[in-house]
Amino acid sequence: MNETIENLKSRRSIRKFKDEQITDEELKTILEAGTYAPTGRGAQSPKIVVIQNPETIKEFSAWNRSFFPTEVPEDLDPFYGGKTLLIVLANTEWPTWKEDGSSVLAVLVNAAHAVGLGSCWIHRAYDEFHSEKGKELLKEWGIPESYEGVGHVVLGYPDMDAPEPLPRKEDYIHFVD
Ligand SMILES: Cc1cc2nc3c(=O)[nH]c(=O)nc-3n(C[C@H](O)[C@H](O)[C@H](O)COP(=O)(O)O)c2cc1C
Repeated sequence: MNETIENLKSRRSIRKFKDEQITDEELKTILEAGTYAPTGRGAQSPKIVVIQNPETIKEFSAWNRSFFPTEVPEDLDPFYGGKTLLIVLANTEWPTWKEDGSSVLAVLVNAAHAVGLGSCWIHRAYDEFHSEKGKELLKEWGIPESYEGVGHVVLGYPDMDAPEPLPRKEDYIHFVD
């Protein structure tokens, strides 16, 4: 099978990572691929924020956990020990911001898999960056407050076997006349 198609089909969410940072080259490759994701009218409305400082990732982990809809244990790490955290934001002034951000996220996870890394798409970025603290962070980072969070990607070397995918739904695809 075509290698790209094979990669798209074999990528799985990884939720346990080795205690080792990915290389700068791997990171650069993944980020660059992300910037080539399709965006509405090619406007490139998203931004990818990169965090590798373990202390900062820990803080973001606790912050992300605070937005879980139900109470979860204090030691639950929503980022699963991923060594690199990417946050995809997108500019709400652009009509397709959500789609653009999701497009980037999808490319990032697939690019990670293509270079042999594990990744997981993590939710609750909107809750984070829609909050007062989120807007303060944007200011600190020099990003306009019209940006909202779309999602996160955690990256690292997998410390688990890729899980078997669920069977695809039989009615996933509809052909119509
Ligand atoms: C919008 C979206 C939000 C997600 N949020 C989370 C999350 O917060 N935590 C998590 O462990 N996985 C999250 N995932 C990953 C999905 O659970 C995962 O893609 C799905 O179970 C299918 O598994 P696979 O990625 O291995 O094919 C998210 C995926 C998407 C597309």
